[in-house]
Amino acid sequence: MSDTKPSPESPDPAATLRQAAGLAEHLGRIGAQWLPVAQPDQVQKLAAQFASPSPPETPAEPVSKAASSQAAASPRPAASSPEQRPEQRPEQRPEQRPEQRPDGKASAHRLPEDDSSGRQPYPGDPLPEPQRAQRLSDLSERVAACTRCEQLVQCRTKTVFGEGHVNPRVVFFGEGPGREEDLSGRPFVGRAGQLLTKMIEACKFDRQDVYIMNTVKCRPPNNRNPEPTEIENCREYFEAQLELLRPEYVVCLGLVAAQALLRTKLSVGRLRGKFHQHFDSKVLVTYHPAYLLRTPAAKKAAWDDLQLMLRDAGLM
Ligand code: URA
Repeated sequence: MSDTKPSPESPDPAATLRQAAGLAEHLGRIGAQWLPVAQPDQVQKLAAQFASPSPPETPAEPVSKAASSQAAASPRPAASSPEQRPEQRPEQRPEQRPEQRPDGKASAHRLPEDDSSGRQPYPGDPLPEPQRAQRLSDLSERVAACTRCEQLVQCRTKTVFGEGHVNPRVVFFGEGPGREEDLSGRPFVGRAGQLLTKMIEACKFDRQDVYIMNTVKCRPPNNRNPEPTEIENCREYFEAQLELLRPEYVVCLGLVAAQALLRTKLSVGRLRGKFHQHFDSKVLVTYHPAYLLRTPAAKKAAWDDLQLMLRDAGLM
């Protein structure tokens, strides 16, 4: 046993490790996937508070019920105001920090620009998995009965709602069903789907670990692009799906998905290589697997995009 008493200046390393391990376990249990970078002055203040033998004289400001329930609901902290964190400049946002790599090396990859100025949490509390599954299933029944798009209703064999893990870290978001998908009612099961499965496996996920869905749920005739009105008719469905799933990342596959989700007219070339935001999901844009089948030279760029996400997620 050590005979030196821990103090704020020399805390007991074993105790600190135990606390850190306990905290990590707790965060893992509650599903936290993202933590802010610590501010050194705040860390010191907290350390001093924990080390002090009696509680601080002045009680902490009461936290409003709404604020505390929001904190519980969202594993990611709400953005602090500039007054609270004057030292955190926009260019220092955590997802841009090279030291986020788990191996401690600075990233050799171009650092992602951040487009998260409008970040806001998904509304309400995340649902436990059984309720999510039930709500997704209810939504899928509504989609199956949908008749909003006159032409698509007549052409479709089956609606293609989406499939996968109901609590996924990553959602792959495509354009719309093709022939095979229309016949089977499942997303990405044709040739493009086989390539998507390989891309997912290259990320070291299984298909069932992620969720796969499309912008429009009915096959446009002759695989034409969905019309803007068809996308707007389906918006309620794909946005509700994402709100239920609340993934950490949404990978938009191709232009239609990216433009629909991000409500932009920019090209894939302009959108890829950085993170965008849909509520508190990070959105990455890459090439559609069907395009990659036609243009194998673009596969390298698509892999770069996926690696950007894997690095950010601490998975490589
Ligand atoms: N292309 C898509 O965008 N989605 C599918 O489900 C299949 C092919």
